[in-house]
Amino acid sequence: MTPFVQARGIGKSFGGLKALDGVDLDIHQGEVLALLGDNGAGKSTFVKILAGAQPQSRGEIRIEGRPVAFASPHDAARAGIATIYQELALSENLNVVENVFLGREVVRRVLGFPWLRRRAMRQRVDTLLRELDAHIPDPLARVGGMSGGQRQAVAIARALDQGGRLVIMDEPTAALAVAETRKVLKLVRQLAARNCAVILISHNIGDVFEVADRMAVFRRGRKIAERQRAATTPDEIVALITGAHPDARTADLAA
Ligand SMILES: Nc1ncnc2c1ncn2[C@@H]1O[C@H](COP(=O)(O)OP(=O)(O)O)[C@@H](O)[C@H]1O
Ligand SMILES: [Mg+2]
Repeated sequence: MTPFVQARGIGKSFGGLKALDGVDLDIHQGEVLALLGDNGAGKSTFVKILAGAQPQSRGEIRIEGRPVAFASPHDAARAGIATIYQELALSENLNVVENVFLGREVVRRVLGFPWLRRRAMRQRVDTLLRELDAHIPDPLARVGGMSGGQRQAVAIARALDQGGRLVIMDEPTAALAVAETRKVLKLVRQLAARNCAVILISHNIGDVFEVADRMAVFRRGRKIAERQRAATTPDEIVALITGAHPDARTADLAA
């Protein structure tokens, strides 16, 4: 099966600094791929390129086998790539339904006048939240009063409704309490169960081992290792991140 994303030889330079160098990575639908690495390893830069937020300096991205060149996050969204940023970009004063449909309200024209299809939107949100098994008792309540985990659920529902087939989450649980983190990890698995591809960036090795099917370790802009979860251990991954692992040392010498 063709991977949903094939990244080949991705490089990114900021002036003289090589933030990414020759990164090859595949991402499959129905799979949670974790990106790991020390601060500055290039993880965020890599997902920003996938999300159309910045162009690569070198290399090629293929989506379902076709080369793409995203000029903006909007282009990436049209190809089914949704990013959930830490800031989440939700509107505090709007309710859950309004946030899911923000800027793309379902409109029906009646005698030439647009009418928001409130009932249709509400039903769609109910369905999404149920499928995600997200606990939001009142989708007509303001998002401003909700917990971090509930907000993540709203952002994920929004991404799914926009036709997201790859959902990218860059440190989604960094600011969350333990119970909220559990809920977000559950959402991550729900996305994969819906055949989405998920890229999760996290520093929490325990979280990563709980939800990821596969892990890729970045170091100084290079992908130095890729492991199936079943074929590795937290100790090995930590050693790869810190540079203590022989594979990391080999990569350092080759750089
Ligand atoms: N817009 C930018 N301008 C200059 N340097 C950048 C920019 N974005 C990232 N970098 C640099 O690229 C490297 C990789 O950063 P980043 O992708 O944010 O790493 P990570 O997410 O793994 O912590 C770092 O050295 C960082 O300082
Ligand atoms: Mg980062």
